Formats: sequence, C-alpha cells, structure tokens
Amino acid sequence: MNPFKYGIIVSDDDFCPRPELKKKLSSFISSGQNVLLEGERRVGKTSLIYETVKSLKNIRFLYVDLLEIKTIDDLCRRIIKSLISLENKSGFVEKLYKSLSHFRPSMSIDPLTGSPSLSLEPSIKFKPESIEELVELIKKESQKNKLVVVFDEFQDILNLKEAPETLAVLRSKIQFHSDIPYVFSGSIRNQMNQIFNYPDSAFYKSAITLTVGPLKNDIFTNFIKNKFLIGKRKISNNLIIKLLDIAQHIPGDIQQLCGAVWEVTEEKEIDNKSIITAALKLIFSRELKGYEAYMKQISGQQLRCLIGLAKTDGTSLYSSDFIKISGIKQPSSIKKAIDRLEKINIVFFSEERYKFLNPFFKSWLLYKNY
Ligand SMILES: Nc1ncnc2c1ncn2[C@@H]1O[C@H](COP(=O)(O)OP(=O)(O)O)[C@@H](O)[C@H]1O
Ligand SMILES: [Mg+2]
Repeated sequence: MNPFKYGIIVSDDDFCPRPELKKKLSSFISSGQNVLLEGERRVGKTSLIYETVKSLKNIRFLYVDLLEIKTIDDLCRRIIKSLISLENKSGFVEKLYKSLSHFRPSMSIDPLTGSPSLSLEPSIKFKPESIEELVELIKKESQKNKLVVVFDEFQDILNLKEAPETLAVLRSKIQFHSDIPYVFSGSIRNQMNQIFNYPDSAFYKSAITLTVGPLKNDIFTNFIKNKFLIGKRKISNNLIIKLLDIAQHIPGDIQQLCGAVWEVTEEKEIDNKSIITAALKLIFSRELKGYEAYMKQISGQQLRCLIGLAKTDGTSLYSSDFIKISGIKQPSSIKKAIDRLEKINIVFFSEERYKFLNPFFKSWLLYKNY
C-alpha cells in the first residue's frame, strides 16, 4: 500500500514530527493564550493542530472549519455542527438540544447505534445576533469542561458581506473568554494580516502569531526514506532533494510527489532522474483538467509572465533577466499580469518571491516548453 498520504489530515506515523512547534502550540493552548497560526496551504497547519490537541489531557476540541463560508448562516451552522460533534454522549446531545431549541433543531435516534443526533432545518436562516448566542454557548460549554476552540481557514470570514461587524461581534465576546484558548488558523497571509495586524480591525493584536513553515529538511528526508523502505525501495538523498525542490518544500505537495514516485517504481534502488519525470507525468495526467482550466483563464501575456516565473526564482520580476525570459518589455505590463495571476490564485507572494500555488502546474509548463 502506498505509504504517502496527502489531501487529508495526517497523524501518528504519517505525521513527521514538529517538536518545537508542537511544544509552543501546546503551551499557548494550556495557558489559555489565543494563537494566530499562519502558513501556506498544505504546509501542515491543520495536522499540527490535531496532533497537538490529541496529546493534551483534559481538554475538549471544538474545531470549526470556515473554508469557503459565504454567509452568516453558513458560519452559524458550522459552529453548531462543531458543537454537536463535540461529544457523542446522549446526555450531552439532549442538553445541547435544549440550549439550541429556539433554532428549532430536530433530534433523531440513529437506528444502528441508538445514539441521538441533532440536525438543523435548512429553512431556518441564522442572523448576526445568533453568532453572539453561539459564542456564549461555547463559553458555557467550556465552563463545564475545558475547551480549545479552533477556527480553521479563518480568513474566509472576510467573504461575508458583514465581515467587519461579524469580526467585531466575535472579538467583543471572545475577549472576555480569558480562559478559553482560541486558535485562528489561516493560509492566506495578506488576508490574515488584514484581520490581525491592521489597527482598525477588531482583532488587531489579539493573538500571538505562530508560523508553520516547511518541515526541517533532514528530518523530513529521513521520514520519506523510511516510508520508501516500507516497500523495500531505497531512495537516494540526491533524488529526495530534487523532489523537495520541485514541490517547493510544501509537505502536502512533497507527499503527493513521493506517492507518485512510489507508483512508478518497483522494489529496488531509486536513484535515477527519469523516475521523477515518470512520477510527474503521472501527476500531470491526473491534474490535466485543472491545468487546462488555468490556461483558459489566462491571456498570452499572463502565460508569458508565468513562464518567466517558472524559469526564474520569482524574486525580481522587473529585472532585465526576467524581461528577456518572459519577452514582456514594459514593467507595467508585468505588474498587470502578475496582479491578475495572483487574483485568480495561480500564484501567490510569500517570502519575498512569487510562487505557483500548484508547483506541478509550474513543472507542467516547463515540461510542455511553452
Ligand atoms: N507533519 C507532517 N508530516 C508529514 N506530512 C505532512 C505533515 N503536515 C502536513 N503534511 C502533508 O500535507 C498535507 C496537508 O496537511 P494539512 O495539515 O491539511 O495542511 P494545511 O492545513 O496547512 O493546509 C497532508 O495531507 C500531508 O500530506
Ligand atoms: Mg488546513
């Protein structure tokens, strides 16, 4: 069985240890400190949170995923759903049912397990006031049994039409929950910045920042080697270094690429660069529809800009080198193209450089030699 896992939360043996981050996050949570956990997509934020909370004693985990929320109604439903899944005990569900009764949930008994569960009528629409009530409910729950509350992909709260009011309501309540640790995790740095570092935002300086970066090279290299060894494949360090580079050091993308290498190899030594091409081709074939969708969205000029980016390190877009490689002469045209590519989420800016959101799209462009 392929030992490389991606696109899911990883834990236990699939989680390459991050002792320092785990220790910091544990101690913030234990002391009731609010944390802003930031890092790129697929870098391992959610896995780190789960792995950390799992090792803490006597604390319950309220996990609310805000990915792609669009309305206040979505937000309330996600909070309620998380509250419901907090405990699977019958007494708990019944009490929750009472607390939420004015939202008219319906309680049913699972015929197989005999345990009660709650569901919410789609016809009920939640309003901004409901948020206050729900946050109060979180507080009450925490008084019974200590809670850690995680809002994952928190930047998506900015999707709401009423984002500033919602943030203000949340903040005004949360600031009185001094013994509940809240973790706000987010992957889009400039949007998280907007929430936590702009003086006029309600959440200004309200949490301590913890950054999740790439895994340490030597530790992750060993982790990968051992995974290959499970299937009697011996991979060289040189090849691993190449894999890390191609995947831009993002753990999720590295695991995807290693998984593909696994699929195109047999039980033996792996030390041939052609293996990487074969693995990439496998990924290309699976992701081709996505690349074609990107290509449909971009103009010729934007494509040239992307190719320039793929062929350089993405740090100096207005250098003579970049102008030569991309063939775009006007810096203002480069700026326009890159802004658009950033807006449609094909590239993003981080650590002083522009990067591809999907590193395999970059490899594909180079492979196609456009
Ligand atoms: N500590 C880790 N060890 C090994 N792989 C990891 C680790 N953290 C993340 N990954 C890889 O990254 C993928 C995405 O992880 P996830 O925690 O969902 O990231 P994020 O929440 O930052 O988007 C996982 O499916 C896994 O392949
Ligand atoms: Mg996540």
